Amino acid sequence: HNTSSVRIVEVGPRDGLQNESVTVPTNVKIKLIDKLSDTGLKTIEVTSFVSPKWVPQMGDNVDVYSGITKRDGVSYPVLVPNAKGLESAMQVGVKEIAVFASASEGFARKNTNCSIEEGLDRIKDLVSIAKPENLKIRGYVSCVVGCPYDGEIQPSAVTKVTEMLLSLGCYEISLGDTIGVGTQNTIRNMIKDLLTITTPQKLAIHCHDTYGQALVNICTSLEYGIKVIDSSVSGLGGCPYAKGATGNVATEDLVYMLQGMGVETGVDLKKAYRSWEIHYRFY
Ligand code: HMG
Ligand code: MG
Repeated sequence: HNTSSVRIVEVGPRDGLQNESVTVPTNVKIKLIDKLSDTGLKTIEVTSFVSPKWVPQMGDNVDVYSGITKRDGVSYPVLVPNAKGLESAMQVGVKEIAVFASASEGFARKNTNCSIEEGLDRIKDLVSIAKPENLKIRGYVSCVVGCPYDGEIQPSAVTKVTEMLLSLGCYEISLGDTIGVGTQNTIRNMIKDLLTITTPQKLAIHCHDTYGQALVNICTSLEYGIKVIDSSVSGLGGCPYAKGATGNVATEDLVYMLQGMGVETGVDLKKAYRSWEIHYRFY
């Protein structure tokens, strides 16, 4: 295959820091994001507007979003679960949001306190507010191959939720291997099923690296034409509702691998390394 370039979606400040046992100070988050803005990354998910009772680590969302320097040509999406979160995000001038649904009932319950169906209804409500405001909307599907509560997930379950999110107007769906249990075969079967209803241009891959399979699973996704890859600086993170899940694939490792394959990312590897030193020094 001849993939010449990919877009990396940096999710460390959100997916990473939402899961740190200590809440990272707001000024450290802002410095980290500003450094990331300087690496050549085009998309940085900076925080979430979820309930602070559920995820206190993201409770400083307003200050983080307002405090970062927004560079021209870089998108700064935030994760939003419902209309209430959207309202707060819009008040600080957010231009892109990410909504999230699950392919498994067990995870939907633990992560959003509702069923898959009810979650999609919430998303429908918030999209009906966001669309007229011309916000860009990205979608996530979690547990695309396995769930910490329900076990193995069938590809058809992923396809069903993806189709729904696309029909609601998401420009792209990020396929989340939330607990990092995917292998080449399960990832391949999942993508093959999706390609019966959509094209690779509408898909992104979001791998957690629990069993060290993230880069392999990303390569498998590249083979099917997926050109948007989520990663997390220094491999930060996990998910508070998926015990034992480690962080996303590390941005630096991903950039290094892609460089070796001759795939353009636009990201300066040295700057990517330097950006996470900010975070490292905090500890
Ligand atoms: P709930 O408790 O059922 O919601 O939570 P509720 O509507 O009954 O509200 C309860 C209280 O929360 C109320 O306050 C609301 O005002 C408040 P009270 O009246 O008790 O004082 N509230 C909010 N406050 C601020 N911002 C909001 C908000 N919404 C309600 N947006 C809810 C339902 C969905 C809100 C909750 O379950 C939640 O916030 N869940 C998010 C959990 C989360 O952030 N998980 C991690 C992100 S997903 C992920 O990591 C996976 C991903 O990386 C992909 C992958 O790897 O698969 C994306
Ligand atoms: Mg994740």
